[in-house]
Amino acid sequence: MNRNEIIERLSLSEPDSLAALYAEANEIKTSTIGNKVYLRGLIECSNICNKNCYYCGIRRDNQTVSRYLLSDEEVLSAVDFAWKNRYGSVVLQSGEQQSAHFTNYITRLLHQIKEYTNNEVGITLSCGEQTGATYKEWFKAGAHRYLLRIETSNKVLYYKLHPNDDKHSFDNRLAAIRQLRIEGYQVGTGVMIGLPFQTVDHLADDLLFFRSMDIDMAGMGPYLEHSQTPLYQFRHLLLPPDKRLELALKMVATLRLLMPDINIAATTALQVLHPEGREMAVSAGANIIMPNMTLPKFRPEYLIYEHKPGINDDADISKSKLEQNLQNAGIDIGYNEWGDSRHFTG
Ligand code: 5AD
Ligand code: SF4
Repeated sequence: MNRNEIIERLSLSEPDSLAALYAEANEIKTSTIGNKVYLRGLIECSNICNKNCYYCGIRRDNQTVSRYLLSDEEVLSAVDFAWKNRYGSVVLQSGEQQSAHFTNYITRLLHQIKEYTNNEVGITLSCGEQTGATYKEWFKAGAHRYLLRIETSNKVLYYKLHPNDDKHSFDNRLAAIRQLRIEGYQVGTGVMIGLPFQTVDHLADDLLFFRSMDIDMAGMGPYLEHSQTPLYQFRHLLLPPDKRLELALKMVATLRLLMPDINIAATTALQVLHPEGREMAVSAGANIIMPNMTLPKFRPEYLIYEHKPGINDDADISKSKLEQNLQNAGIDIGYNEWGDSRHFTG
């Protein structure tokens, strides 16, 4: 598929052509890696962040957030919940912190999770840009997948979304993604979809970027506005929610056609735009869902965007509803499996 053919797909709007695109992507998925969806229990370990991304609700300068770092026991109890419910993997996610204290915290958690679950649970990290030495230490301690979104592969757009300073360097971010591969991780990246100033051409280039980086996993979700962030002032430039959801689904489907054997997440942000947005993405080619395992009392403090679902949900309720929806759609769940990227394992 060349750039023009990608743009063509991302520009579809006829219901019949959209349905055909989603169906084709779903078929390619099924024939390449099967029909299974793998669940990753998402644990939001800390909302402390040194960065100031213009779009994000937990950016450093948002003083209305009360900051937390989960205790080892709190993380392990979330792991326990995921493990008992036959989730094959967990994701440890946090705001970006570079400190010996934070590095040790994650290393210690990795050892504890491996020991506690007899090495049964796979562990993905999503803890931002770190040094090669830190990535190496965490890999050695048991993490084997890492998510680090490029957010947009267009440098000019990147600097409309981030301050132009050392902490938010596009080149450093790219280098960090490359470093993860060197350290042996399955590498995941992704972008936000429907950002102010973003065009379909940018999105096509994002998909080509994923292919050129030979990524193993992708997580892409619609951009969602947050009133306590600088980007909120450009909300008049946004696509309406239904069109933003549609664009995100087209991105998922087109990426599946482009990279048939990678893992593609149906992200939580989709669920904000439609209660069954994640299930819709699965039917359009996604194969990973990351249900939130964070204890309810911390959830209101991890609002990267507003109207994030599950704030009042108990982990149990959201989980059973999702599983039921998937089962109703005839989709198998890969219980007790790590569900590694076929692109990586071959
Ligand atoms: N809307 C959608 N996604 C967002 N993220 C951060 N802020 C927002 C927002 N306002 C995404 C970023 C980040 C991931 C953890 O959450 O892509 O990498
Ligand atoms: Fe921090 Fe990530 Fe939010 Fe940026 S997107 S402010 S790095 S939590």
